[in-house]
Amino acid sequence: MLRSRDEGRGLAAVKELEGEGLSTKFHQLDILSGESIKKLADFLVETYGGLDILVNNAAINLEASTAPLSEKAEATLKSNYTATLNVCKSFFPLLRSHARVVHLSSVSSLNALSKCSSALQSSLKNCKTLTELDELMAKFEKDVKSGVHQANGWPNCAYGVSKIGVTVMTPIQQMELDADETRSDLVVNCCYPGYVVTDMTCHKGEIMIDEGAETPLYLALLPPNSTQPRGEYVSEKKVVKWR
Ligand SMILES: NC(=O)c1ccc[n+]([C@@H]2O[C@H](COP(=O)([O-])OP(=O)(O)OC[C@H]3O[C@@H](n4cnc5c(N)ncnc54)[C@H](OP(=O)(O)O)[C@@H]3O)[C@@H](O)[C@H]2O)c1
Repeated sequence: MLRSRDEGRGLAAVKELEGEGLSTKFHQLDILSGESIKKLADFLVETYGGLDILVNNAAINLEASTAPLSEKAEATLKSNYTATLNVCKSFFPLLRSHARVVHLSSVSSLNALSKCSSALQSSLKNCKTLTELDELMAKFEKDVKSGVHQANGWPNCAYGVSKIGVTVMTPIQQMELDADETRSDLVVNCCYPGYVVTDMTCHKGEIMIDEGAETPLYLALLPPNSTQPRGEYVSEKKVVKWR
């Protein structure tokens, strides 16, 4: 199922895919809206009874904007971290046994992590709960607003930090899914798709969209009872250790 914030753009994309012989359905979704997330979740339950694959692709990158970092940090964390988590909170209960979840993270997360102070790196790498991670992400936003983020060991990059949130949330969510006794073989991974020619990269990049889709697709289609990768960061279909 394809989704977009704007119904006209979404339906146009469905038509374009149909022209290539690919059949898909459209549903509106704005991950910043709890109501919109709920509508799609209700639709999935009513129509399909659950969910087998969830790809969290939606994100923004405001690094090129001249807005103050405090504004960029607030907006970027809201979309890339908090809203993605909100989607998971609503959609994870719908996952059926053997479901696969893929978060689009970025190599920017690992770059940003390497620029954090060693104390922060340690806190982020050893985060065991989403509550701890929420607190660290909120601290970045607060430190940026107070102008002390660099003094407190954070890098100067809202997008990178938002994607640290995505990378760190992945193994925590895998632990939570592993503890679920009602369903089995639920797998969540995050990935770097490569430097892809898209709107986000102003149509610069090293690979085209179909190549950028290879790693997310590989993770979305991991066969039943795969032992690896689970809760990992994956690039070019290979696990990259980051902690
Ligand atoms: N391109 C790269 O080189 C690269 C590298 C590393 C990671 N990534 C990650 O890969 C993913 C896709 O990136 P991209 O390059 O394709 O970016 P893009 O061209 O800017 O597309 C971003 C997508 O996110 C959606 N989106 C943004 N805010 C949303 C919201 N509030 N609700 C619902 N959808 C929302 C947009 O949906 P609409 O259709 O509604 O506009 C759009 O489809 C992102 O997570 C990005 O961080 C990309």
